[in-house]
Amino acid sequence: MNAIILGIESSCDDTSAAVIKNGYLLSNVIASQAVHEAYGGVVPELASRAHQQNIVPVVHEALRRAGVNKEDLSAVAFTRGPGLMGSLLVGVSFAKGFARSLNIPLIDVNHLTGHVLAHFIKVEGEENAQPDFPFLCLLVSGGNSQIILVKAYNDMEILGQTIDDAAGEAIDKCSKVMGLGYPGGPIIDKLARKGNPKAFTFSKPHIPGLDYSFSGLKTSFLYSLRNWMKDDPQFIERHKEDLAASLEATIVNILMDKLRKAAKQYGIKQVAVAGGVSANTGLRNAFYDHAQRFHWQVFIPKFSYTTDNAAMIAITGYYKYLDKDFCPIDAPAYSRVTLK
Ligand code: KG4
Repeated sequence: MNAIILGIESSCDDTSAAVIKNGYLLSNVIASQAVHEAYGGVVPELASRAHQQNIVPVVHEALRRAGVNKEDLSAVAFTRGPGLMGSLLVGVSFAKGFARSLNIPLIDVNHLTGHVLAHFIKVEGEENAQPDFPFLCLLVSGGNSQIILVKAYNDMEILGQTIDDAAGEAIDKCSKVMGLGYPGGPIIDKLARKGNPKAFTFSKPHIPGLDYSFSGLKTSFLYSLRNWMKDDPQFIERHKEDLAASLEATIVNILMDKLRKAAKQYGIKQVAVAGGVSANTGLRNAFYDHAQRFHWQVFIPKFSYTTDNAAMIAITGYYKYLDKDFCPIDAPAYSRVTLK
């Protein structure tokens, strides 16, 4: 029996739908919302409205590209949370209506679990190594920075997480004060390739255990900039590559220090990375470097599965479908961070 899962993702500012058949990806359509660029961040109400406009054409296109009729679907999986409530509600309501009309099961997916299980997306004709259980996953995005112990598809434990800002949030905010634009991550990444990572030193947090903190770094960056600009109004313009490289290096060091600690503490050498910030070149290089130095086996997803996408929701839905782990029609969306 074929298991054909439609995945729907609408937690933030990307409307996405994907189809997975027996664990293999058939389509993954993403409509990104450019409307937020002018505001330097995601405007929730505008995001909800854009989801509302995008959801039907995006699902239609995902089914078309997959060559699948809606009547062939086995289940509909959707992001239930965490995320922006208004955005989530569009995907949640659509998924419920669609599943009910087709009389097929509904599967709720935690967005964070989806990021982790993106490592298990298979594509016909493409080789990709998949981690064995248990493994560690560093989940770094605009909203989260967590170290997760992944014991099974349906069994994960958060070992540490940020107590304030997420890594991506810190990068985005620092980029904003430098006047570089939104989202800052890809811009900082590009500039950092041309800069000296040792040019500037920013304060690193001292947080016990496996938790992270990035708000102090952001403040230290801001104050340093302010002082330098007093003496030289052209400071940012003249040093933006070095500033970007030093900021990126500091964040990558903070992330890797704790990850090394977790790997040692749990005796695990299989280490994966997930979430939007895993697109970062400096972080990817740090993973390859750790693979060599500490004999880690590292897993880095394809760029298209690092940022928000429905393929990761569909693959999580696929494993929940095999477990017959369905969700009732009255399950509400949730905005806060949980992992279940
Ligand atoms: O997972 P994601 O797409 O969305 C949510 O957080 O919901 O992550 C977005 C974050 C943003 O902070 C963005 O600036 C960051 O990922 N990002 C990057 C890069 N590409 C995206 N950060 C550093 N380097 C990149 N190349």
